[in-house]
Parts: sequence; structure tokens; C-alpha cells
Amino acid sequence: MSIKTKLVFSNIAMCLIPLILCLITLFGLNNLYSRKLKSYYEVEDMKKKPLLNPYIELKSINIRPFKELQSESEAIPDNFEDKKVLKTINEALLKKNTYIIVEKSGNVVFNGSKKNNKDIISKLDDLNYSRNADRPEPPRTESISDDSETLIRQFTFIFSDGSSGNVFLVADTSKLSQLATEFIISIIIAIIAIISLTGGFITFLVSRSILIPLNQLKIGTEKIKHGNLDFKVRAESSDEIGELCDAFDSMRKKLKESVELQAQYENNRKELISNISHDLKTPITSIKGYIEGIRDGVADTPEKMEKYVNTIYNKTQSMNYLIEELLTYSKLDLKKLPFYFIDMDFVSYMNDLMEEFKFDVEKNNMEFSYDNHIKGKANVRIDVQNINRVISNIISNSIKYMDKEHGKISVEVDSNNEEVLVGIKDNGMGISEEALPYVFDRFYREDFSRNTSKGGSGLGLAICKKIIEEHGGSIWAKSQKGHGTEIWFSIKLKNRIN
Ligand SMILES: Nc1ncnc2c1ncn2[C@@H]1O[C@H](COP(=O)(O)OP(=O)(O)O)[C@@H](O)[C@H]1O
Ligand SMILES: [Mg+2]
Repeated sequence: MSIKTKLVFSNIAMCLIPLILCLITLFGLNNLYSRKLKSYYEVEDMKKKPLLNPYIELKSINIRPFKELQSESEAIPDNFEDKKVLKTINEALLKKNTYIIVEKSGNVVFNGSKKNNKDIISKLDDLNYSRNADRPEPPRTESISDDSETLIRQFTFIFSDGSSGNVFLVADTSKLSQLATEFIISIIIAIIAIISLTGGFITFLVSRSILIPLNQLKIGTEKIKHGNLDFKVRAESSDEIGELCDAFDSMRKKLKESVELQAQYENNRKELISNISHDLKTPITSIKGYIEGIRDGVADTPEKMEKYVNTIYNKTQSMNYLIEELLTYSKLDLKKLPFYFIDMDFVSYMNDLMEEFKFDVEKNNMEFSYDNHIKGKANVRIDVQNINRVISNIISNSIKYMDKEHGKISVEVDSNNEEVLVGIKDNGMGISEEALPYVFDRFYREDFSRNTSKGGSGLGLAICKKIIEEHGGSIWAKSQKGHGTEIWFSIKLKNRIN
């Protein structure tokens, strides 16, 4: 959900939720106060009454005892002379904050009030229909007087001796106004509480969905600042903040990759320096040894001297070779070796080149064969010198790693529709399965002892790979330990002319 929709929904919730909660609370409070009212006064069944009615329609108070007393006065009027009966009735009414006053022929014969109620007694004359000329007596009806504190109802009847009787039912309504005030105050408090609580809660929910991811991002930036990139910022939502989290995390990943790459470069550089120093130190140490031998007179015969000098010469030769290979490799690595590409027919190029190599190989007492499966011409764009170097490196490996009495080296040239393929096969010592994937790595030699009698820099095939890649081709090796090796490379055809 987008932040905008979230805000719209939270606004709707801010209106609806308090409204519903207020209505529920209103009904609850009304119920509560109705019950309280019932415990204070005798009122009509309030379920039938509309909301808040008991506080408006005071008339409903004491309806029941009023009607009961009225019918009793009709049935046994003389009961209203009997103090005992009246006391019992009054006791029951007092529990509901009501009492009775009974008059017979205009004189008060019973006053059920517990407090001094002279002011009410004095008012009775004004209320009494039968004695009030301005208010003609309706037949046996009731009258009401309500100042704020009391509610008085009256009915008249006739005693058995014919004298007129009045019964006044006086209810103390002070509690009623108190209840009404309490009720209104509770409603106001409830509404304020509901609005502020729902507002607070919804604000909390919405801000949490924004603040938590923001905080995560802040922690993330702190971590990056301190160089820690091994963490993940997860997008918990699909909104704008979630997108920001995703973007942040992909930035972190990129940064991590580049830091790791940097570290790898740094490692490679260190490894390179260590390899070079090792490979240069070995011949230098032995040259130093032989020179010391000459200086100290160890080479005391002309034969010995010749041997020493030859060894020194060979060592410097191999050092020179190593430095040349290193230079070539580093130039290729830095892309500083110039390439002079020319278009030519690969078939005639290979035919000529193989004449030279046949001579070299046979000089080493090995059998050489060359097979060209391409019919016609194969037009390629190559740097002749560098491709020469590739083939020379591969063939010299075949010569160098030959362990068979009857050494054989064969070269094959073929093509598919897109490229020419050159394969150089030998029946030498082969490369183990574990070593095979690494032979094109710089400084890699299967024989880890660097003082191998075969010499070599471990750069030959790495140089080949760089040169072939520069031609847009690929190079690969197949080998079987003890049986021989095949090195293949491919070069894109410009167009094939048959
Ligand atoms: N024709 C081959 N026969 C056996 N092993 C080979 C052959 N060509 C390459 N290798 C293995 O691959 C390694 C890497 O070759 P290269 O890069 O030319 O380095 P080196 O200077 O050792 O010749 C060699 O050290 C050797 O172990
Ligand atoms: Mg080599």
C-alpha cells in the first residue's frame, strides 16, 4: 500500500472508529445510568423509553407506587388513616427517596418525611385541587409540582366517613440532577478519551510503518560508514519506503561487490609480486653461488670453469626469458601490447608456419604431423606475431612436458561456419584432472615446486589466453594424465571463401 493510500485510510479510520466507539459508549453509559436511576427511584420500565428520557421526563418517576396507592385508596380508603399501614408504605417508599403526606379534610394526618419539610407542607395548599379555587378539581386526577429538587404528585379520594382525603407523593429529585450531570460529564470525558486514543493509536501505526524502515536505513548508513557491508535491509512494505529500502540494499550489494573486487585486485597484486620475486630470486641465488665458487677458486680447472660459466649463462638466459614473459604478460594485462591485425588466409598462414615448427620439433627427436581439414581459404583477421607466439608457447610446452621415448606432436586445423579451430596434441605426460582448470592461470604450474628442472614461468598459457581473447576467440585444454594433452583455440572467421 502506498503512503498516500495509507494516509487516506488512516483519515477514514480517524473519523469512523471514534464515531462507532462513541455510539457504543453512549449506549453503555445510558444503560449504566438507567440502572443507577432505578436504584434511586421507582420508575417505569425504562426499556421502552428512548435514550436519555428518564432525565427529561420526570413524570415517569414514581409512576408505579403512585398508581398502586391510588388503586388502594379506592379499594380500602381507611387504610390511609391507619398509621401502621401508612408507616409500612412509607418505609418502602423511603428506600426509593420518596415519602408520602396524607391529608384528611385539609389537615395533615401523616407526614412520612425524615427531614424537616415545612416548606413543602406550606406549599401543599397551592397544589391541592380540592382547596384551590383557581384550579378546579378534575375527577380523581393527579397534579405535579417540580421545582429542581422535589417532585410532588397528588391524588384525592374519599374516606369511608365521607371526608375528603389527599395523598401527596413527594420524591427528592436532587439525586436525579446529580445523575444527569454525572452522565453528561462521563459522556464528554469518554468522547475526548476515545478521540485522543484512536488518534494516537492510528498515528502510532502509520508513523511506525514509516519510522521503522527509516530507522533501519539510518542504521544501515551507520554500518556502511564503518565499513560493514554484511547486512541486509529488508523491505517490509511495498510502498515508497519499501522501494527506498530495496534501492538502498542494491546499492549496498554493488558497494560490497566493488569492495570485494578491489580486495581481490589487491590480493592478485600481492601474489604477483611474491611470485615474481620468488621466480627471480631462485636463478639469482644460484648465479651468486657459482660466481662465489669462481671467486673462491673452487673452479680450479678449465673444465670446471667452463661448466660454471655455462651454468651462469643458462641461468641468466632463463631469467631473461622469465622477464620477457613477465613483460609480455603485464603489457597484455594492462592492454599496452600493441596488436597489428591484418586480414589473411588462415590456411596458407598455418601451412607456412607449420614448416618452421616441423623443423623445431624434429630437432627435438619427436615426430611431427600436421593436418589441415579446411578446404579452400579461411579468411581471418589476426595479429601474426602474437598468434605465432601462441602456437610457439603451446608447442614448446608439448616439447617441454614430453616424457615418452617416441614423442609425437600433431597439429590440426579445422573450421565450422563461424570460426577456425587449431588443435595441438601431444603424447606427453598430460595434465591431471585437478590441475586442468588452472593451466591458463598466470604463474600456474602443475608441478608446484618452482625449481622444476623444466624451468618455465607459468605464464606461457596465460599469455596465450590473453592473446586469443584479444582476437575474440577462446582457448581450452583436454588432457589425460600420462597419455597426452590437447590444447585447442578458435578464431572468428571474417568470411569463408571456398
Ligand atoms: N603439453 C603439456 N603437457 C603437460 N603439461 C602441460 C602441457 N602444457 C601445459 N602444461 C601444464 O600447464 C602448466 C602451465 O603451462 P604454462 O603456462 O606454459 O607454464 P610453464 O611456464 O610452466 O610452461 C605447466 O606448468 C604444466 O604443468
Ligand atoms: Mg610454457
